[in-house]
Amino acid sequence: MIEDLRWADAQDAREPSLKAQFLFPPAHPLYFAGHSLGLQPRRAREYVLEELDEWARLAVDGHFSARNPWMHYHEMLAQPLAALVGAQPREVVAMNTLSVNLHLLMVSFYRPTARRHRILIEKGAFPSDQYAVASQARYHGYPDAVLHSDDLLRDIDDSVALVLIGQPNYLTGQVFDLPAMIAKGHTHGCVVGIDLAHGAGNLVLQLHDWGADFAAWCCYKYLNGGPGSTGAVFIHERHLGTALPRFEGWWGHDKATRFEMGPVFKPTDSAEAWQLSNPPVLQLAALRASLELFPPMAEVRARGDRLTGYLERLLRALPFVEMVTPRSRGSMLTVRIRGDARTLVRKLHDRGALVDFRNPDIIRIAPSPLYNSYADISRLCTLFAELAG
Ligand SMILES: Cc1ncc(COP(=O)(O)O)c(C=O)c1O
Repeated sequence: MIEDLRWADAQDAREPSLKAQFLFPPAHPLYFAGHSLGLQPRRAREYVLEELDEWARLAVDGHFSARNPWMHYHEMLAQPLAALVGAQPREVVAMNTLSVNLHLLMVSFYRPTARRHRILIEKGAFPSDQYAVASQARYHGYPDAVLHSDDLLRDIDDSVALVLIGQPNYLTGQVFDLPAMIAKGHTHGCVVGIDLAHGAGNLVLQLHDWGADFAAWCCYKYLNGGPGSTGAVFIHERHLGTALPRFEGWWGHDKATRFEMGPVFKPTDSAEAWQLSNPPVLQLAALRASLELFPPMAEVRARGDRLTGYLERLLRALPFVEMVTPRSRGSMLTVRIRGDARTLVRKLHDRGALVDFRNPDIIRIAPSPLYNSYADISRLCTLFAELAG
């Protein structure tokens, strides 16, 4: 393992991380839980404090006169968020949180009829998504509409109203063939939506070109926006300015006439039409600090592949580790531990390494392409070998 660490240090010198731009928890310098909660960018505090200061200095005038006027604060994030998911800026808006947004989008995109009302979702989807689709189906009077599929591509057919795909799956890390699923879904007349909680800032995505109908994601994992950070949505251009039903609020109203306070809703012609409320500036400030650090996603993924490939090689050399994540994956690896996984994770925790335990024997480990180094990975795997058993 000493050999490995030497190689890792040399590799880090050739290919430095953005570690210095992030705050690592002092007790856990080996942080591998960015798939759960990303680290705080150093500048997040500065950006949040800036808005607190503007609030103190200007109060209500900050909406128009702050250095970054709050009226338009969310607009600053549309372009960087769009770049991360392969969208046009007008197709993306930061708002609410993920589960809330899934419901709001299903108001528009789940339009069941007696002939076509099924919702197809991947088996083992994140519980909140399962609850969301089940409750939507019940709400519309189709309590048995949800089909949990272990092969989405196979199960897409003319009975399906909505396909909702978690990309990648939150537990196994499996990346699905999204372009094929979207194309097949559309051939059969289905709407295709994506939950990118684990995909945004992790995978290379081309939501616009692939033609996804909608997507939603949280920004506190690979996007480092902070706990409970504002989520974001994508709505394909072809749906903008159409007569799709949606729940409406004043922040979705045409900007030119919003403050005339008229009684009739006139939607903006962008994804902002789905915004209900004025944006949470303090949260967006923290997210802005992270988005500024992102290189193009092709570079992020290429580095992610190298780091995760290295982690995989070291883990596969450990006899008590079984790889769960398939070849098609992003940065997160899920492994099954032969032996006491819970105790191993606790021991790792006590020795400064943070990974993620799931009952009964699963560990998820995500080297962040932004802030993890090869040496971090080498040290983590040395600890794995030392502490297991
Ligand atoms: C795949 C997936 N979907 C939905 C959620 C729920 O997110 P939120 O609590 O922001 O609604 C999560 C949270 O981790 C998730 O991983």
